[in-house]
Amino acid sequence: MKKLSKVHTKTRKNHYLHGYTTKEQARLREQARFLEFLTHQDINFSNTKNILEVGCGVGAQSEILLRRFPEAHLTCIDLNPHQIASAREHLKKFAHYQGRYTIKEMNACDLSLESKSFDGAFLCWVLEHIERPEQVLNEVRRVLRSGARIYVTEVMNFSFFLEPYSPNLWKYWMAFNDYQYEQAGDPFVGAKLGNLLTKVGFSNVHTNVKTMHYDNRWPELRREVIEYWTKLMLSAAKQLITAKATSKEIVSAALAELQQVRKDPNAVFFYSFMQAHADVL
Ligand SMILES: C[S@@+](CC[C@H](N)C(=O)[O-])C[C@H]1O[C@@H](n2cnc3c(N)ncnc32)[C@H](O)[C@@H]1O
Repeated sequence: MKKLSKVHTKTRKNHYLHGYTTKEQARLREQARFLEFLTHQDINFSNTKNILEVGCGVGAQSEILLRRFPEAHLTCIDLNPHQIASAREHLKKFAHYQGRYTIKEMNACDLSLESKSFDGAFLCWVLEHIERPEQVLNEVRRVLRSGARIYVTEVMNFSFFLEPYSPNLWKYWMAFNDYQYEQAGDPFVGAKLGNLLTKVGFSNVHTNVKTMHYDNRWPELRREVIEYWTKLMLSAAKQLITAKATSKEIVSAALAELQQVRKDPNAVFFYSFMQAHADVL
């Protein structure tokens, strides 16, 4: 509690936690494919012509959407020019998608897009990096036509659990979340999606908790998810060390603990995230 109230009083600066290195861009692509079975399982854009993807990053989710919904046209926007360039490069590799997407550099808080011009919207791991998520949702609602559906997938970082207990990993994870909060993000935004979507006027708001719970029943998936998680956590390590939010020693100790968890015959990995959908009436 003490730590949180201290953080609350700080000036929050907008700074992207994961950075824009080539390594991080590759991690985003790997992440999208690794989680595709959970993230895209309940997304249905069939009969949806014009889809807006907000915070498209490197085009990893865009590729999945174009593959799964061959009738759709996708407009992908992101604030960062490096991500935009990388998304263009990535989608260019899929010649059969040419003409089915547009990529634009744009701030989701102020969309230079016509009102009521889209039939659907997709946001994944974006609101967690934005100080006023309701502003983005309000903008997205403005550009959606009546009958359109929005899907929002977001983190709920309080849900993470790892067995065996790994104290340095916990220290690092708390620092990661504090830092994201200080950088004007929200590592717990998933739990708030119901309120946010309702507040900005969406109807039929549904939330669905998606869980990765891997133990001795799925040893291969458990191994893969721990590997994925290690990369996710490390993606912020350099920034956290530079900001003195954690130390090299804690990062090394957390990594050593992760190695131990990997070898443990009774290891458990648990993490839940939220996927919401809602409609414009
Ligand atoms: C974690 S990445 C997720 C990318 C992609 N949705 C995915 O799942 O692979 C978050 C992205 O949101 C973008 N972003 C952050 N704030 C934004 C804003 N205000 N407007 C548009 N994009 C933003 C970042 O540049 C980054 O590419």
